[in-house]
Amino acid sequence: MKDTFYINLSTADHLGIGLFKYALVPEEKFLFANSTLAQMLAYFSKKELKNDKFADLFFAYKDKEEFLSILKRDGSIKFFETLFKDKTGKKLWVAITASRVAEEGNSEYVEGIIENISKHKEMEEKLALEKDFLQSLLDNIPDAIYFKDRNNRIVKVNKFYAQGAGLDPDQIVGKTDFDFFPWDQAQKMVDDDNYVLNTGKPIIGKIERTILRNGTWNQVITTKMPMYDRSGNIIGTMGVTRDMTAYANLERERLEMLINGLTVLAKALEMRDPYTFTHNRNVAIIAEKIGRALGWDENRILGIRLAGELHDLGKISIPLDILNKPGKLSDLEYELVKEHVSRCYDLIKDMKFPFSLAETIYQHHERIDGSGYPRGLSMDKVILEARILAVSDVLESMTSHRPYREALGLDKALEELKQGSGTKYDSKIVEAIFSLIDGNDKKPFWINN
Ligand SMILES: [Fe+2]
Ligand SMILES: [Fe+2]
Repeated sequence: MKDTFYINLSTADHLGIGLFKYALVPEEKFLFANSTLAQMLAYFSKKELKNDKFADLFFAYKDKEEFLSILKRDGSIKFFETLFKDKTGKKLWVAITASRVAEEGNSEYVEGIIENISKHKEMEEKLALEKDFLQSLLDNIPDAIYFKDRNNRIVKVNKFYAQGAGLDPDQIVGKTDFDFFPWDQAQKMVDDDNYVLNTGKPIIGKIERTILRNGTWNQVITTKMPMYDRSGNIIGTMGVTRDMTAYANLERERLEMLINGLTVLAKALEMRDPYTFTHNRNVAIIAEKIGRALGWDENRILGIRLAGELHDLGKISIPLDILNKPGKLSDLEYELVKEHVSRCYDLIKDMKFPFSLAETIYQHHERIDGSGYPRGLSMDKVILEARILAVSDVLESMTSHRPYREALGLDKALEELKQGSGTKYDSKIVEAIFSLIDGNDKKPFWINN
């Protein structure tokens, strides 16, 4: 036996959903409709609605047929979504839940509820549209986009990423960077993800080199951001990686042209003053090794290397007999020698490099306690590149032979650096020098390099 629920008529009129009872046999007509249903369908009154046919409310003939056939087949229907047209002809989305009741004596009717789901449908369509929009953005953008969970596992990637990996986007879900990149490279990526997860801070525009499936290296720029749930908890990371190889190659070509120009200057110095030329080259090797020990990227390494190669180029303007004078220089002569810094700075200050080349050279005789020249800058004001160059410069000069004196030797040079560590020289760089020398059997690591 079917459960039956009776409701007071005045209560029925105040419900938020439409109620109806509609006779199918012997004659199609409304037996009951509440006020909510009449209002929903823009009828003036329940009475007015009852003069119309239920079947005429359907906007599409096929929906009406489907509704009636399910009802006939199953005896009931749940949440049948369809378009109705109201009294004014306006379309609205409704959901009908109804049962067919057959009574003795051949009479048959349908009773049920009708809900207005237009707002819900509108929202659903809006969301679907927004989803389509985001999906088409994800699928058409020529950048790799990826979402990862808190365990660095990939949750979703776009088509571009999948193409790069040679898989379908769905095949990538659940994998990690270790499935696609060499171990050390993947580890760096995961370290970055964990930084974002643990600090909540984004990594913006990090330039890295990655190896592709075909074995070639490319240069990419990556941005990683934290992803939050609605309560503000970090649930994973989102990353965008753009291939910059073509741009980087162009930049490299431009850079090579500049470097070629500077090489000519360095060659001119070599002809006139081979000692300073060799000194520059050795300082460049030392500084580069320190940069690598500090984990710098290739661009920064190139910058410090070039700064080393050119740092004493300004000596080209100083008379050789002063440069090579044995014994102590007079105050005037010393002032003249000091000018090599600003001379070199003036030569290259207008060249545009992706690193601070001119400033590094300008500061290579500064000391972190402020006792250096030309500006007497102290620690924070002296850029790291210049602090590295300063230490490399002292180490090279003291260990090499000059026309006016013999080499003082590695021990003396290391003693000087140790004495001045933390006062004249950046202690971290002095430490790096000591470990580089230790790692080279306690011998100079820049000779025969
Ligand atoms: Fe110098
Ligand atoms: Fe020097």
